[in-house]
Amino acid sequence: MPGMSDAHGPRLRVELGAVQETLFIPLAARARESGRKRPVLRDPKAVEMIGALDYPADKYGPGPGSAIMVLRTAIVDTWVRAFLAEHPAGTVVEIGTGLNTRFERVDNGTVHWIDLDLPDTIDLRRRFFTDTERRKMIAASVLDETWLRSVEESPGPYFFVAEGVLVYLAEEDAAEALTRLVRRFPGALVAVDTYPRRLLEQQHKQAARKGMPARWAWSCEDPRELERFGLRTVEVAPVTRPPRALRTRLPLSYRLLLPPVDRLLRGLFTVTLFRAASR
Ligand SMILES: C[S@@+](CC[C@H](N)C(=O)[O-])C[C@H]1O[C@@H](n2cnc3c(N)ncnc32)[C@H](O)[C@@H]1O
Repeated sequence: MPGMSDAHGPRLRVELGAVQETLFIPLAARARESGRKRPVLRDPKAVEMIGALDYPADKYGPGPGSAIMVLRTAIVDTWVRAFLAEHPAGTVVEIGTGLNTRFERVDNGTVHWIDLDLPDTIDLRRRFFTDTERRKMIAASVLDETWLRSVEESPGPYFFVAEGVLVYLAEEDAAEALTRLVRRFPGALVAVDTYPRRLLEQQHKQAARKGMPARWAWSCEDPRELERFGLRTVEVAPVTRPPRALRTRLPLSYRLLLPPVDRLLRGLFTVTLFRAASR
């Protein structure tokens, strides 16, 4: 099927499942951020991919929530960098990776990396990324068990990132995925974003308005609720109150705007770093 075209030639038309196509939301946000004079992060690969793809920009293009998403990603980058400073050859597993480019941002030359996502997303991802000795893509659901073996074959310690993914799963499925990680990888770090009921309702309204079929499936008033799956909270980071290591590096405009926005949003968007309990 022909796709759109521009000065660079035809764009690649993309057909993905309902949840899979939400990958364009953070991708477009990172691409837009990269065009700012003083960005929170630079992501030339996201700019390249967004320019090469014919995707439903009306639904998934950059919007007012872009900055929130970029901050969330930057917080997780900060945690992954800290992990790699301690464990330069450990393994990072990006669950529901989409077209994420964290490896490009944090690679230290020795980290091992696994990008996991559903088969149609990984097919798309393979158009832009290739496996290497240290970096591998796996096409599977987080709910399958088989991919865990590939992780075990990679050197520990482990850091699992599930950014913008678990909230789309049924609550019992998200619980099962987390419980299994804790059981198989005691001591591993796990980063997960969670959203309270109020925001879930807003997401449903916004998705209906924009004609987006994917809906968040569960809410969480306090990320510490996830401790019931054997996780221990290391750091709770509302995206409008990033960890100090990131806050001091933010562009001035962000540093000035974040405190009033934080008072307004009151921890609505939160990403949390957990450690899986040791046996
Ligand atoms: C909002 S996107 C987030 C992408 C990426 N984490 C990022 O921040 O750029 C959600 C991603 O979760 C993936 N996903 C949804 N259900 C999944 C499942 N059961 N197993 C693995 N990945 C899944 C989708 O394919 C999609 O890439």
